[in-house]
Amino acid sequence: MPKIHPKNWRQKFIPSQAVCMSIFSRRPAGAGQRNYMNSFFPVGTRSLLFGVHLFWFHPLMVAWAWWRLYGFPRDPRLWMSFFLHDLGYWGKPDMDGTAGEQHVELGAAIMGRLFGPAWKNFTLGHSRYYAQHLGLLPSRLCMADKYSFVLESRTFYLWRACLSGEINEYLAHRHHGKYAVMGPTTYSAEQRADLLAWHTELAEYLRRYVLLHAHLATPEPKG
Ligand SMILES: [Fe+2]
Ligand SMILES: [Fe+2]
Repeated sequence: MPKIHPKNWRQKFIPSQAVCMSIFSRRPAGAGQRNYMNSFFPVGTRSLLFGVHLFWFHPLMVAWAWWRLYGFPRDPRLWMSFFLHDLGYWGKPDMDGTAGEQHVELGAAIMGRLFGPAWKNFTLGHSRYYAQHLGLLPSRLCMADKYSFVLESRTFYLWRACLSGEINEYLAHRHHGKYAVMGPTTYSAEQRADLLAWHTELAEYLRRYVLLHAHLATPEPKG
């Protein structure tokens, strides 16, 4: 196993074995088995409590991304959308599956109740899938959401993704079902390098996407 150079702090601080030994990072149950941990403490809830969508931190990153893309968000309704848009992950058994895709609905419903249908669509539009479904371009909230990934600390992001176990799903999407390789309780040096490669690739893709689409996105409702 190749050694990590002690001076390379970036690799050194990528999710340590201690964190990745989290019970939540274990590989998903195989065919015919039941993942009891996911039944009682679903990955969507873990994501909000201490994972990638950490309920107090992710909205602040989205606000920062919005500031960088469109100027300081002065409208308090925008701040509400930053804090509410991902709340629907609560109780979801997956992040990017059929259930996870529906996470946009709860926050959008609350925004709709509070501020009307235009804000509901704006919040739904933070998902490219939902925007397409509505026949709209993704909203500016989508751009800020994506750009927040680019802006935030890679180390902190990967720690949270490992701690909650979300990383298994994200990497599985990259490796097309190679859970057996990427879902162990600890990560070897090669696998940590792979986490870095995954993050770098995705950040580059999102940076390009936002660069090309930020000016086309549906703006927040006025008035
Ligand atoms: Fe979301
Ligand atoms: Fe988000």
